[in-house]
Amino acid sequence: MRQAGRYMSEYRRLRERYGLLEMFRDPEIAAEVTLQPVHALSVDAAILFADILLPLEGMGMHLEFAAGEGPVIRNPVRSRAAVEALRIADPHEHLGYVLETLRLVRAELDARLALIGFAGAPFTLASYAIEGGGSRNHVRTKALMYSDRATWELLMCKLVETLGRYLRAQLDAGAQALQVFDSWVGCLSPSDYREYVLPYTAELLGPLHDSGAPLIHFGTGTSDLLLLQREAGGTVLGVDWRTPLDEAWRRLGPSVGVQGNLDPVALFAPWPVIEQHAQEVLDRAAGRPGHIFNLGHGILPETPVDHVKRLADFVHERTAKK
Ligand code: CP3
Repeated sequence: MRQAGRYMSEYRRLRERYGLLEMFRDPEIAAEVTLQPVHALSVDAAILFADILLPLEGMGMHLEFAAGEGPVIRNPVRSRAAVEALRIADPHEHLGYVLETLRLVRAELDARLALIGFAGAPFTLASYAIEGGGSRNHVRTKALMYSDRATWELLMCKLVETLGRYLRAQLDAGAQALQVFDSWVGCLSPSDYREYVLPYTAELLGPLHDSGAPLIHFGTGTSDLLLLQREAGGTVLGVDWRTPLDEAWRRLGPSVGVQGNLDPVALFAPWPVIEQHAQEVLDRAAGRPGHIFNLGHGILPETPVDHVKRLADFVHERTAKK
């Protein structure tokens, strides 16, 4: 999950001096930011500081992070010709700075801590590529998907190819687990997921299973998609707080792990309430192997750092091997 960011003063100090893209593109800075939460919170894994949108640049899109606006793509793809013009990004040529960040972090990170690489899933990236930024209803994305199957297929295939190469290169550079973010796929019905998304996500994840690295397949609002997501692939399925963890696991079966699922907003509550929520997650996981305790979605900018630290300590205490 997103782990670094504006809730940390160390991050804000760097962010005053650099733009977000500048920080991603400078491996020394990106490695430092990756390690900031690891040092401050004593978590068990570091997640690479990069963004799911970076591969879109390599494909030919112009990405910006406008202040207060989130990510913006100035040349969204909305026609057959625009999709045809997209390149397959080469991870070494277009995203070499991310690979270098992974190498730097792996060299500095305590050997007992895992380094997690990641990418966006094809649907979530297609949505950014088509909408040109964040979207509430994903109208243009779904309209293209429904009205021009061939163009949708071409876009999804180009994304799958780009992301597959990128994730493999991340493993080669030192990532030991991979997380694939399908953050917005919860906007689809199960039948649309099966028809327009599952085959492409499966094509991305399937071959990556051969690497032996754990693959975390993440989405939000996916309560009714979980089984289809499992079918698409992943050794671990991410669930958000809208689905009780034991209920999700019961449906998924014991063959996959489960990551989640504290509501990130619970971290704004007084400590006893946070503790109660965290304990509920642990109770529902019931000590089964394959549970990764995590938030159900990324950490929010105003989150009190001391609550996050206390949460990490609490989970460690309660799950310590006797
Ligand atoms: O620890 C980490 O920060 C890991 C690195 C990371 C970032 N983005 C850096 C980032 C990861 C794993 C992501 C994933 C990401 N990016 C997702 C998938 C996960 C999710 O949250 O669903 C998505 C949808 C994006 C796209 C994106 N990037 C958005 C919508 C935004 C703006 C949101 C906001 O809070 O303003 C970003 C910016 C972004 N990417 C930040 C960070 C730390 C905020 C940075 C800042 O403004 O200083």
